Amino acid sequence: MSRPFAYRRGQLACGAMPLAGLARRFGTPLFVYDLDAVLGAYGAYERAFARVPHQICAAVKANANRTVLAALARAGSGFDIVSGGELAQVLAAGGEPRRVVFSGVGKTAGEMDAALRAGIGLFNVESAPELALLAERARRLRRIAPLGLRVNPDVAAPTHRHIATGRRGHKFGVAPAEALALYRQYAGHRWVRATAASVHIGSQILDPAPFAAAVRRLGHFAAEVRAAGCALEALDIGGGLGIAYRPGERAPSPAAYARAVLAALGKDGAGLRLILEPGRSIFAAAGVLLSRVLYIKHNGGLRFVILDAGFTELIRPALYGAYHEILPLRRRPGRRSPAEVVGPVCETADTFAHARPLSPLAAGDLVALMDAGAYGYSLASNYNGRPRPAEVVLQRGRARLARRRETLEEMMAREGKA
Ligand code: LLP
Repeated sequence: MSRPFAYRRGQLACGAMPLAGLARRFGTPLFVYDLDAVLGAYGAYERAFARVPHQICAAVKANANRTVLAALARAGSGFDIVSGGELAQVLAAGGEPRRVVFSGVGKTAGEMDAALRAGIGLFNVESAPELALLAERARRLRRIAPLGLRVNPDVAAPTHRHIATGRRGHKFGVAPAEALALYRQYAGHRWVRATAASVHIGSQILDPAPFAAAVRRLGHFAAEVRAAGCALEALDIGGGLGIAYRPGERAPSPAAYARAVLAALGKDGAGLRLILEPGRSIFAAAGVLLSRVLYIKHNGGLRFVILDAGFTELIRPALYGAYHEILPLRRRPGRRSPAEVVGPVCETADTFAHARPLSPLAAGDLVALMDAGAYGYSLASNYNGRPRPAEVVLQRGRARLARRRETLEEMMAREGKA
């Protein structure tokens, strides 16, 4: 997906709308998402998988903004959730429960009950005790639980170690032999119906090969499960497709990704519906985090650019050493020189960039942290007593405040009297 933001007469803009105007109107730090870009990325997946039966379930953890989720739901998207909270967010956005898949290693009885009552499409179960509890909750509620076991394919993902999930020693999924035994054990269960098998090997993966390897294993595994007499009807191949964060970096398109996984699946996939759980590749490039320069200071021979956004708004650089491009909202002439771009949070990890060549910046200037539409707001916190920022959604040249800035009262609302 390409970014919907570009310079226009020296100003960073989305189409004809300069971002600086939004920063002035709604304040900073501010997340801005271009809905057309989100829907465009979703559409690219739809087209890429058009020749096979499929359901795209956007990963809510990447961006849970209600306006954004509602637009995806209207476009036909389903959702990948990992908690009762995300289920509530999807339902509030008008998401179709049958198109919801529920992943995660630690689902509680209460979360299972809510999902069973809502009538979600698939539980991706990650352990034997979780499956026992799901069967028990389904029996009590007298609802059929649609089951997919998440298989751990033991495939390494070339990404940051915090977001690789498909190796044997990770907490995710069930070893294939154990998963096969569980499908056998629950075959014919009154309240559990095995309908799918799933994998998810990690996130921000730029090479199609590990996806192909995982999907090939999933296909072989599904063939074994079917041979054992379980009539699976879908394969959930997870998410994980990366995006180009750095200038010059290249990411496979959904079309290239589809070619790789469909070829790897071959005839093992025949007759099976594919479920996809893309997060980052739907949302990231469609969003920016706007921030204002508070101060410039020099320390130890370094130039520090201190922003009013910190890791409380965008934690990816602190957590994964992630790179986000930083662009001034208004282009200024002048030579680039290295800057330490930091936030106001009282930790050295609150650093967006080291020695980043940036054109001259002064206090009061506005900048955009690019590709912040995924895992930005959804990972925001109140650390250091910072209210969470606002989110603005753009569509066809119009700006809408989709979530207003948290107030100090809201931040403190759940505490008792001192
Ligand atoms: N499905 C499952 C089961 C997942 O665990 C995830 C992400 C996804 C789908 C979506 O993956 P995506 O297409 O977005 O890569 N906070 C980290 C990323 C954590 C990913 C967690 N799971 C970051 O900012 O890089």
